[in-house]
Amino acid sequence: MTRKIMGWLIRELRKPSGFLAPFLISSMNLGHSRFTRKVLGEVSITSSDKILDIGCGGGNAISIMAESCGAVYGIDPSPSCVKKSTDKNRNGVKTNRVVIREGDAEAIPFGDGTFDLITAFETVYFWPDVESAFMEIHRKLKPSGIFLVACETRRPESGEKHLLEDIDTGNGTFRIFGRGEMRDILSAAGFVDIKELLPREDRWLCMSAQKMSAL
Ligand SMILES: C[S@@+](CC[C@H](N)C(=O)[O-])C[C@H]1O[C@@H](n2cnc3c(N)ncnc32)[C@H](O)[C@@H]1O
Repeated sequence: MTRKIMGWLIRELRKPSGFLAPFLISSMNLGHSRFTRKVLGEVSITSSDKILDIGCGGGNAISIMAESCGAVYGIDPSPSCVKKSTDKNRNGVKTNRVVIREGDAEAIPFGDGTFDLITAFETVYFWPDVESAFMEIHRKLKPSGIFLVACETRRPESGEKHLLEDIDTGNGTFRIFGRGEMRDILSAAGFVDIKELLPREDRWLCMSAQKMSAL
């Protein structure tokens, strides 16, 4: 794929809109499904958990998590994604077990200390200020709550050539994170017990991090 086409695709994925959005959003649901299920297999979810999925796209992660938790909330800045997520989760939305709103990671439209688990699948690359967003996520978690950040691509380490580097798309950078960098940002936001999940998966960068328990 040329850099020009890649730049266009990334601009579309940053906030799907326009006539191609329904197609792109359905493709994300399909294309990320195996990854999302595998990552979610690494965390324990209980029937009383209140979960927020940030950058929920087409609502696939929401529908998987809704099978086993108390309530799932989703936010996305794209109205097309909010619509698709709502359609996909219409039964949960009807019974108020699923709530989907327009919003972004830097200003989460729910109260502080609300969630047991916050997830972010394939989305942090697009956030304009990841450092501030992680602090916002930390505020929205309950004490001992978990943040799960999952990316299917990470910054290459020495000797690795097959992975993507940052791409300047003309409307923001598509930012790729390295393992150490992600740990540092999580730690600076106040998270503890930072663990890399599925470290044997070549290109993935999946981490769980905890908000400290109340004393
Ligand atoms: C590649 S899609 C991933 C969607 C979904 N999480 C998945 O795994 O299929 C990236 C999503 O992040 C959303 N997004 C972009 N910037 C965001 C931000 N600042 N805060 C929250 N979501 C954002 C986009 O609208 C898009 O739906």
